[in-house]
Amino acid sequence: MKVVDSIASLRALIGEWKRQGSSVGFVPTMGNLHDGHLKLVKRAKAHNDKVIISIFVNPMQFGANEDLDAYPRTIEDDKAKLIGEGADAVFLPSVQDMYPAGLDVQTFVEVPGISDVLCGASRPGHFRGVATVVNKLFNMVQPDDAFFGEKDFQQLQVIRTMVRDLSMAVTVHGVPTEREASGLAMSSRNGYLSTEEKAKASLIYQAMQKMKLAIEQGDTNFADIENSAISELEKEGFKNDYIKVVNAQTFMPAAADDKQLVIVVALFMGTTRLIDNLQITREV
Ligand code: PAF
Repeated sequence: MKVVDSIASLRALIGEWKRQGSSVGFVPTMGNLHDGHLKLVKRAKAHNDKVIISIFVNPMQFGANEDLDAYPRTIEDDKAKLIGEGADAVFLPSVQDMYPAGLDVQTFVEVPGISDVLCGASRPGHFRGVATVVNKLFNMVQPDDAFFGEKDFQQLQVIRTMVRDLSMAVTVHGVPTEREASGLAMSSRNGYLSTEEKAKASLIYQAMQKMKLAIEQGDTNFADIENSAISELEKEGFKNDYIKVVNAQTFMPAAADDKQLVIVVALFMGTTRLIDNLQITREV
């Protein structure tokens, strides 16, 4: 596996691949790779001739009070896992490479509407940081295909909207969430949980399944469905950020005749913020 740590060497490598006629699959990550990330790499390998992964803990998507410094950095382990998956290259840009003039004067990309609700409301500026870095990475890597986890469903929709609105020549693939046997969605942030907290965190998936069942059985009183999940999970020690049923495209509150819905959840277990979601397709 090639390890590329400058934009110039990245461009040389991608140029060589394109001259050979190879298609390029790209998996952007912030590292601390788990089976969820490796599933994205597997999907890219199945779809493309060459696969490149970026590892960059993006300061632009972290708020002032968030865990940028504490975010786990496990580069050597990550590289070993990527070699195990048969990745062709890993791109490790520096903050200086990504933001040469500093974050205060950085040109940015903002996807209006969807970036302002739910995680966007709880984490102001987060999706601007995500859209900007993904746009920059796409410009650098020039991938044919890019792979993102559905666990960050709102992020995936922000990126899809950006690609559509800016006519970008990349196909975005959403890959279903990888879960522990308990149902807990795999996430780098699970590493912050104690054994007891981790066991409790699996209740999120159970609560979402119960909500999904109620909706599939025809209940359209979404506010009641949300509120009973909130009170059940609060009793178990979670602090609510949001539990909502929304339209899967717009992320606006669900309407009784929406066909594609998604249950989106953000909760704190101790100081760790956990997110998850469950999609629902309805015949209405
Ligand atoms: O999902 C992530 O790991 C990050 O938000 C991403 C897409 C790599 C952008 O920094």
